[in-house]
Amino acid sequence: MSKSSTALIFALIIGIAVLAVVCAASFWTFNNKSDSTDDAVEDSEEINAVPVAAIPDDAVTMDELSVPAAYAADDVPKDVDEEPDEPLLIEPDAYVPAIPDEIPVTEIRLTTYDVSLYEGESKMPIVTMYPENAADKGEIWTTSDEQVASVDGLGLIKAVGIGKCTVTVTSVSSPDVKADVAVEVKERVYVPVEDISLSTYEVTLYAGSSKMPIVTMYPKNAADKSEIWTTSDDGVATVDSLGRITAVSEGNCTVTVTSADSPEVRAEVSVSVIPTQEAQGITYINGILVVNKTYALPSDYNPGVNSEAKSALDEMFEAAKNDGISLWVVSGFRSYETQKGLYNRYVNRDGKAEADRYSARPGHSEHQTGLAFDLNNASSSFAGTPEAKWIENNCYKYGFIVRYPSGKESITGFMYEPWHVRYLGKETAQTVYDSGLTLEEYLGIDSKYAE
Ligand code: DAL
Ligand code: ZN
Repeated sequence: MSKSSTALIFALIIGIAVLAVVCAASFWTFNNKSDSTDDAVEDSEEINAVPVAAIPDDAVTMDELSVPAAYAADDVPKDVDEEPDEPLLIEPDAYVPAIPDEIPVTEIRLTTYDVSLYEGESKMPIVTMYPENAADKGEIWTTSDEQVASVDGLGLIKAVGIGKCTVTVTSVSSPDVKADVAVEVKERVYVPVEDISLSTYEVTLYAGSSKMPIVTMYPKNAADKSEIWTTSDDGVATVDSLGRITAVSEGNCTVTVTSADSPEVRAEVSVSVIPTQEAQGITYINGILVVNKTYALPSDYNPGVNSEAKSALDEMFEAAKNDGISLWVVSGFRSYETQKGLYNRYVNRDGKAEADRYSARPGHSEHQTGLAFDLNNASSSFAGTPEAKWIENNCYKYGFIVRYPSGKESITGFMYEPWHVRYLGKETAQTVYDSGLTLEEYLGIDSKYAE
């Protein structure tokens, strides 16, 4: 072998060795890089594996906040702009065009299909488009005649002029789906008041008492039945806006009710006010001796038990006994002085405000008339007993009333006292009982202390 060929072979061996080293290094680098490259390939393959256009509608939907419904509700990021903890398989933006307006509106239903309006009135039917998950529920409202009724973009129908027309709502996305509203606009007919009738045209009242005639305006369908009440002399009788006439002092006057709608239509009540029959400070109204918080008896009025009332009471006790009910008196006539002692005791025990609810001040107790009796048990536990029920249902037959009925404290001035009966005589007791009124209401009087 020549010297030059030996050198060539040597150079060849070195070259192969260098190549081998380079190849080995490249292979090592290639292998290490390929891990991440493969991952990247896999990632891109996942995206490519589910092409946006191929995502089925039911697999991926958007709610109104544009949050992919593919998240479980709990996973919905609080701020959709932030990166979610778990990487998204698909970029959120990729969904947006994927929500097709493909579920069409197939039906429109309305809350009303017939609307009847007077000129100037308006009404808005409520629209429901079906199916509920239809993509575009936009509404277009039109009217067949703007001269009859207009309609705005929300479906508010306004009556413009007399006549009939059709208002139509059409689906924006499915223009062949519509619903019609038949609209009729009618002339506003105004019915004026023509006549007024009253339950009474003549009233006689004791000073301090009051009465309210009942008003009827005709025709029955009159548009405005407002009443205006006036008095010719408010020194004799006043009248309030509801027609309650209150007698002030002796004399005559006229109370008038006028139709606010038709001022020429009116009705009049002749009012006579007579003074209360006061003899030595005792008040009779309609022949009835009245004692309550407004009307007092003089301190020296000391008649004892009324004999007529006592006989009536005996008759009632006898009748009760025949019904198996035993009745007796626990308190009858009480003098001014006796009442004074009782009342003061209650004030000391319960205070004035509370005592005033169940015990009369001296001079204001019906017991001082000799016409009132407390039966069996003057305590709240008496309410609802067979005896209390018997008294309530039968005492009027013997001339008595339960003077302080349940629920009438603001009228009588006193709490419910099922045990306290007051003698009025059979005829008056029957009338008051039949009226269902308290004595105060029956006579049209108050029961209030002056101070
Ligand atoms: N308990 C009644 C109101 C009276 O004291 O006369
Ligand atoms: Zn009593």
